[in-house]
Amino acid sequence: MQVIGTKIVVLGTGGTIAGSSARAGDNVGYRAGERTVQSLLDALPVAQGQPPLAWVAEQIAQIDSKDADASFWSQLHARCREHLQDERVRGIVVAHGTDTLEETAWLLAETLPATKPLVLTCAMRPATAASPDGPQNLLDAVALASDARALGVSVVCAGAVHAPHHVQKMSPYRVDAFGSGDAGPTGWMEEGRLRLVHPWPPARSVGAEPPQTLSADPGAWPWVEIVLSHASACGRQVDALVSAGVRGIVVAGTGNGTLHHALEVALLRAQEAGVAVRVSTRCPLGVVVGRPAHGLPLADGLSPVKARISLMLELMRSSPTP
Ligand code: SIN
Repeated sequence: MQVIGTKIVVLGTGGTIAGSSARAGDNVGYRAGERTVQSLLDALPVAQGQPPLAWVAEQIAQIDSKDADASFWSQLHARCREHLQDERVRGIVVAHGTDTLEETAWLLAETLPATKPLVLTCAMRPATAASPDGPQNLLDAVALASDARALGVSVVCAGAVHAPHHVQKMSPYRVDAFGSGDAGPTGWMEEGRLRLVHPWPPARSVGAEPPQTLSADPGAWPWVEIVLSHASACGRQVDALVSAGVRGIVVAGTGNGTLHHALEVALLRAQEAGVAVRVSTRCPLGVVVGRPAHGLPLADGLSPVKARISLMLELMRSSPTP
């Protein structure tokens, strides 16, 4: 696939990368989503892309990504889709908060055609930090979005390039907050160049049509929740969700997808009542191996938060809304 166009669109959504603190140099006491994406680009040591490339800023939202929701995702998805169709656009960068970045990456990877590079980036320190990490992450993201090898969605943080399937926030504080578990990063950004250590992960779709469609009405997205299996877990939370009309439940099981017996009984009851149940694991590495004795369907090697998105999309597909 030949990527053409000379414009890199940088979409601002808020996050720590756009955060500022009252006390200069404070790395933790700050508000996310205070600075515009245009001001972040203006502050870069390089004023503009290497000609003929140009960077164009667009503010989509100004949120702390812990508050991401269906309407934010719907809006971001729509703008990404439009830019992907614009032949003047070579690639897209999304400046995002770290807290739910892996969820947004997974949603976009599953619902947008992989026809151009779409790179999510972030920062762990606010723009007012003594040594902010956002500027270098932005520069790396713009460079990656200009690289024709980078088709589809990827994440760059602290120089590491991650695939949406594997990326996970691992640390609440470290600047290199993200990891790709057993798989490791796809590659590294070094002085504006991509060095691949694995072949670029094949996208689910390189055609004009995405693998999954997204309902245009965020209010109609199926309600899917996550519950956790733990010592002394009980089924009351599951029963309450079913009574309240939940459509799907992902359970973060212990170890190899096992469940506390009280939770297991409630989940089997929920499934019997027509609620879609998927089992993932609380373990940050590896996947559930074999079939746990409870027989509930597994979440296809996805972390609980990504399994929630995949189940939501599956339910959207099975009962589409206009
Ligand atoms: C956020 O996720 O928006 C705040 C935290 C961060 O970006 O590190």
